[in-house]
Amino acid sequence: MPRYSITTFGCQMNVHDSERMHDVLRCAGYTEAGSADEADVLVLNTCSVREKAEQKLRSEVGRLARWKRERADRVLVVAGCVAQQEGERLLKQMRAIDVVVGPDNIPELPGLLGDLAIGGLPIARTVFDLDAPRFLVASPPSSSSSPRGAPTAFVTVMKGCDERCSFCIVPHTRGPERYRPSDEIVAEIAALVAAGTREVTLLGQTVNSYRDPLGALPRAPGASADDPDESEFAALLRRVAADVPGLARLRYTSPHPRHLTPSLVLAHAELPVLPRHVHMPVQSGSDRVLRRMIRRYTRAEYVARTRGLVEAVPGLTLSTDIIVGFPGETEDDFAATLSLVREVGFKGLFGFKYSRRPHTPALKLADDVPEGVKGERLARLFEESEALLTAHLSALVGTTQEVLVEGRDKERGHGGAGGALWSGRTGRHEIAHIDGAGELDLLGEVVEVSITRANKHSLQAELTEAARAAARPRQRGGLEARPARRSLPVVAAEGG
Ligand code: 5AD
Repeated sequence: MPRYSITTFGCQMNVHDSERMHDVLRCAGYTEAGSADEADVLVLNTCSVREKAEQKLRSEVGRLARWKRERADRVLVVAGCVAQQEGERLLKQMRAIDVVVGPDNIPELPGLLGDLAIGGLPIARTVFDLDAPRFLVASPPSSSSSPRGAPTAFVTVMKGCDERCSFCIVPHTRGPERYRPSDEIVAEIAALVAAGTREVTLLGQTVNSYRDPLGALPRAPGASADDPDESEFAALLRRVAADVPGLARLRYTSPHPRHLTPSLVLAHAELPVLPRHVHMPVQSGSDRVLRRMIRRYTRAEYVARTRGLVEAVPGLTLSTDIIVGFPGETEDDFAATLSLVREVGFKGLFGFKYSRRPHTPALKLADDVPEGVKGERLARLFEESEALLTAHLSALVGTTQEVLVEGRDKERGHGGAGGALWSGRTGRHEIAHIDGAGELDLLGEVVEVSITRANKHSLQAELTEAARAAARPRQRGGLEARPARRSLPVVAAEGG
């Protein structure tokens, strides 16, 4: 049986696409190789959101030329956003590549590999499925090698993007918005939960612009018929909460502030399954820059909408994405961004230096902020956000929190007298390491912990007496046999 290996760059959508590639390859008779060296087929699932990510692909392919030369029948596949963006050009530019496959063409991968095996030429397949969008679901429960039963899972609700943010390549690489019927979404979540999943993250490029393509959702409470920013996302959240009662947490990423409407705020206020944390990309705190970015909201609107959310759900925390050094960004513009970070009090922040991307409207603007200035602004931004996070985590010491245990801790350095450490996330998405519970099997459990210490980016915790007492009987309950979440090699956790 031919063996494959997949390396993933970029966002959660790519991680999810990689899982689907695992599924289609396994169904076609391939087995997963322990390492690239053992693989017959190597897939690079690529990201092109910033130039640095795209460069990574090019240097990786350069490195893999030797891997290919070692055996004539080895196959190198490039998937994901660079594949979609460059298509056939990649085959011409880099001779080591055999197959280029776009995000919408994942089901065709085994067929393309089959053609190649019987002497076909290198091929690129990058066609959007506009008329009949396909949303691949997780492999069926009967498949023993599937990653099901993991405590957390992603479920796609829409793909593509109809926004035209001037810096962003996603509309080009992922195509126009296409939505998945809510029946299918609910069925996939119900199947995951039946197999042991506790938390689902709904995925979409502008996830909260969701509409049911079959018109199967009732209007959500608080939804306005004539607000152009209104979507059916709140109705979808309500339907999932009602139809899948066993789900412990329902997250989503990434929303657009424009669709943070009263109906979504009301859903957060009323549905306990929605955790008290939302990632809401703002990109800049300057109206002048937001306008040039074509974000279609003002700073005041962002502040008012997120404030409404925090008022409706006390204790809710926000995290965000910010670009520094967008064309024309002055020191005053950047100061406005810093002041917004303080005003909103983000408890998490991904910051990026602006990077010129092909096919984007901002190409018309001069990339006039010097690299050194971008770097310096990014450092100041991180300084600000780290201070906010440190203060926030420190204030949690001594409190009791509910943690969904996602797995055994990779960071052994944190101590933990009882052997293996468990780690997971609080309802607000803070990472928590649980000390002294190595003898218990907590995978997939929502446990009560008290916070003992704040680390730089995470919390140290121990089980409360009640949680410890409740956990013991489960020790030999078969949970150990549950497959852990597939750990895909995620490269490119880029900080800018
Ligand atoms: N340059 C820098 N950062 C970008 N992002 C998207 N496009 C660019 C670009 N051209 C960032 C945005 C987005 C995140 C996923 O990546 O902040 O929210």
